[in-house]
Amino acid sequence: MRVLSGIQPSGSLHIGNFFGMMKSMINWQQDSELFCFIVNLHALTTVTDGPTLARNTMEAALDFLALGLEPERCYFWVQGDVPEHTELTWVLNNHTSMGLLERSHSFKDKIQHNITPHNGLFAYPVLMAADILLYQANLVPVGKDQKQHLEITRDIAGAFNYHYGPTFTIPEAGIDDNLATIPGIDGQKMSKSYGNAIDIFLSKDDLKRRVMSIVTDTRGVNELKDPDSCNIFGIYRLFVDQDGLSLLRDRYLTPGLKYSEVKKELMEIIWDYFAPFREKREMLAQRPDTVKDILKAGAVKARTVAAQTMELVRSKVGLNY
Ligand code: ADP
Ligand code: TRP
Repeated sequence: MRVLSGIQPSGSLHIGNFFGMMKSMINWQQDSELFCFIVNLHALTTVTDGPTLARNTMEAALDFLALGLEPERCYFWVQGDVPEHTELTWVLNNHTSMGLLERSHSFKDKIQHNITPHNGLFAYPVLMAADILLYQANLVPVGKDQKQHLEITRDIAGAFNYHYGPTFTIPEAGIDDNLATIPGIDGQKMSKSYGNAIDIFLSKDDLKRRVMSIVTDTRGVNELKDPDSCNIFGIYRLFVDQDGLSLLRDRYLTPGLKYSEVKKELMEIIWDYFAPFREKREMLAQRPDTVKDILKAGAVKARTVAAQTMELVRSKVGLNY
């Protein structure tokens, strides 16, 4: 089975990215053919500073490698190093109705956040469809927010297959329904672009500052608290098992719980959880050339698959003559 997913290098990766997508991706390398890539072409839709994008791309690669991705057991590359992504996008554009893209939540959401709409943002889902269809992926593990993008991909693949005959595998979205969208420190979806994230690799002081600023309600120590609407609980639950979670829930439902104490515990738990990965990351960060070599070799490997699909597409649509 082919499992594929990508992540944007549009800022430091956070624990919402980790639990929403990276962790399950890294697990998939055990028993599937895994395709994992850094989508720098997608990031161009929002990051317009060249050095920042280049730096974020390297940082994202370091994060994945430090967190346990093994490049020899999977395909790991940077999207912009494989030109077939943009080539297929152009072909697919011609099988994507305007209405389909106009209904995209992420497009509407960007506009709501006052990001000036341009064609790159509008066409974002088509590039994502190309990413997936190029590798004939069966399963795409993503967070809930990407569900509609997967539906758009399936629609585009269906339209193309209907017109030219069977060409693309129709992918399934791998969404873990038990994993609700992870809240940021302000309770909205944790996101690089909302300034509410807790990054995976922060210094201890920065981590402390972030965790201590998680927004809570104003209930006093002796009042009972509601775990399900509490932003601290929404993050804490990611780091404990079922027993740990029931214990924490009981504490919320008993007078005496201080939010500041739970925050301090959470800070230590996050720090310890990522400690082994932090060491590995520091080691890798000393060797940027090795990391670049890994990515370049990954692109060559990914291209062998991408070129096969592109060859099939070219012959179907008449680009081979
Ligand atoms: P961001 O919103 O921070 O820019 P991306 O859109 O790049 O994050 O998402 C990368 C991956 O991480 C996607 O699969 C997405 O669904 C997942 N993800 C991002 N934020 C969260 C979150 N708060 N909760 C769960 N999953 C998330
Ligand atoms: N749109 C995805 C996100 O913001 C990133 C992405 C681009 C992606 N191409 C992909 C995810 C292909 C899965 C498969 O998270």
